Amino acid sequence: MNFELTEEQLAVRDAARDFAKNELLAGVIERDEKQQFPKEQVKMMGDLGFMGMMVDTQYNGGGMDTVSYVLAMEELSKIDASASVCMSVNNSLVCWGLEKFGTEAQKEKYLKPLASGEKIGAFCLSEPEAGSDATSQKTTAEDKGEYYLLNGTKNWITNGNSASIYLVIAQTDREKGHKGINCLIVERDMEGFVVGKKEDKLGIRGSDTHSLMFQDIKVPKENRIGEDGFGFKFAMSTLNGGRIGIAAQALGIASGAYELALAYAKERKAFGKPICQHQAIQFKLADMATQIDAARLLCLKAARFKDLGRNFSKESAMAKLYASQVAMDVTIEAVQIHGGYGYVKEYHVERLMRDAKITQIYEGTSEIQKIVISRELLR
Ligand code: CAA
Repeated sequence: MNFELTEEQLAVRDAARDFAKNELLAGVIERDEKQQFPKEQVKMMGDLGFMGMMVDTQYNGGGMDTVSYVLAMEELSKIDASASVCMSVNNSLVCWGLEKFGTEAQKEKYLKPLASGEKIGAFCLSEPEAGSDATSQKTTAEDKGEYYLLNGTKNWITNGNSASIYLVIAQTDREKGHKGINCLIVERDMEGFVVGKKEDKLGIRGSDTHSLMFQDIKVPKENRIGEDGFGFKFAMSTLNGGRIGIAAQALGIASGAYELALAYAKERKAFGKPICQHQAIQFKLADMATQIDAARLLCLKAARFKDLGRNFSKESAMAKLYASQVAMDVTIEAVQIHGGYGYVKEYHVERLMRDAKITQIYEGTSEIQKIVISRELLR
């Protein structure tokens, strides 16, 4: 067993760290306040190869491993979790599925611009009445011979208004249950595509989260991913990998808050000495550092299993379940260590605390992760 990262992995981590400090940090408080999508920064992330990190170079990707992806996600999330969720969805939920299950024509047309960052993708599974219970799809894709007629509404779609390519999960044959579900590639400029309301959120406020409406969109048959009825399996398989991205995001939110709290504890004085000299603060820091290390090991294990081609659904669910709890615990303690300063925007930790909560909800709630883990244990 080897705990050392390779030179390439370390170079990716350092590049992501520099980018986050130099390009994401400056406007992050303002973007959070104004709910502004980090458009220019995401463009730069594409130029750096962060939008299709694991995609083969022949499709404009970075040809990197999942471990490198975890390292980059952690670094970006320390500073801007709104930028990093855009990256995570594009990489894991859109590019990965297209590369693994798409046709050559789909890869040429859709994967290449997504992997280079020229275009942004979105993954559309959740609906007003189908969140955790993902098989209860109300969106329909009626088979009309040469095309599918797509109708329905999707909710809480990350990159909802900034994307131009959408993977949409819809029901074709209700009698077949989850085996009657398809995944269709939908372009934003197809007739009948409507971007709905923007959500006003607690955290990741720079991420543009929208509802989407599909009104009689004619989606060509060649835009279906995989065989007829493969859509639900497609969604579940992509989410297995997506959960590694969100686990790494949670890890980054936690380690970002920890680093701020550690630096503050060394500077801030109380009762005649820096607060880090008080055991009350030392014990908090010790707990935070230990939890973060454990979360990082789970993230890296899941990533390594994926890179080795092993089944990793349990590992990714465990990583997300644990890292998202750590993100909550650590950010709350980081605010506490900062005292009054922690409660104001300028010191960043209050934002990280708000950002942390979503990691326990999207790409499968913590309760869903426990279902995934226990099913694997009992298999
Ligand atoms: N990997 C691969 N296949 C899987 C799978 C997994 N993790 N989980 C289930 N499947 C397969 C099963 O094998 C089964 O196929 P077969 O019938 O051929 O065996 C099929 O999918 C149906 O499985 P279940 O009978 O287990 O389905 P279920 O109705 O009991 O639901 C669930 C299972 C795990 C609860 C699932 O519904 C689920 O994961 N729900 C959460 C959905 C979710 O994560 N939503 C997040 C939205 S996306 C998002 O947040 C993106 C964003 O913008 C940030």
